[in-house]
Amino acid sequence: MQTAELISESEIQQRIAELAQSILKDYAEEEFVCVGILKGSILFLADLLRQFPGEISIDFMQVSSYHGGTKSSGVVQIRKDLDQSIEGKNVLIVEDIVDTGLTLGHLRELLATRHPKSIKVVSLLSKRIAKKVALEVEYVGFEIDDLFVVGYGLDYEEQFRGLRSIQVLQIQ
Ligand code: IMP
Ligand code: MG
Repeated sequence: MQTAELISESEIQQRIAELAQSILKDYAEEEFVCVGILKGSILFLADLLRQFPGEISIDFMQVSSYHGGTKSSGVVQIRKDLDQSIEGKNVLIVEDIVDTGLTLGHLRELLATRHPKSIKVVSLLSKRIAKKVALEVEYVGFEIDDLFVVGYGLDYEEQFRGLRSIQVLQIQ
């Protein structure tokens, strides 16, 4: 299967440094917990975390909306929940990509029922398509066209997550 580079390793790292600056500025010394959405966010979360002060904690959730293919099923299922309570805390959801927005819309609603102090979302990528739900994403790394991308955490059938850059998958 062929891939072609869309966003280079250095572009990603540069943008992450900028995102981290805006995030820290907006929280203005307040602590927050980063909630990484498994598995796609792992590399992004790791690099983002390295830009934050040592007090910042992390937790993970795993949801699934894709079942192996390249199209969203619209069904969101929780596979792994948070280890800690987020009541009264500032929560920063860390996501790899927003496509239809269904996954994040559902997740935001669910986490809001647990009475956090605030919820914000940072997504490395967002596709320029009509979102199926009204959705707030406070921080977006890159807006991309409606292409299927892999690398830097993103997969196609569990492959390509380790690539250091974002690549477009050319499905024959
Ligand atoms: P949404 O619910 O349609 O916004 O889909 C979000 C989830 O689908 C993301 O968290 C990814 O796991 C996956 N996804 C969407 N687009 C892509 C893509 O281009 N490559 C890899 N995974 C994708
Ligand atoms: Mg994901």
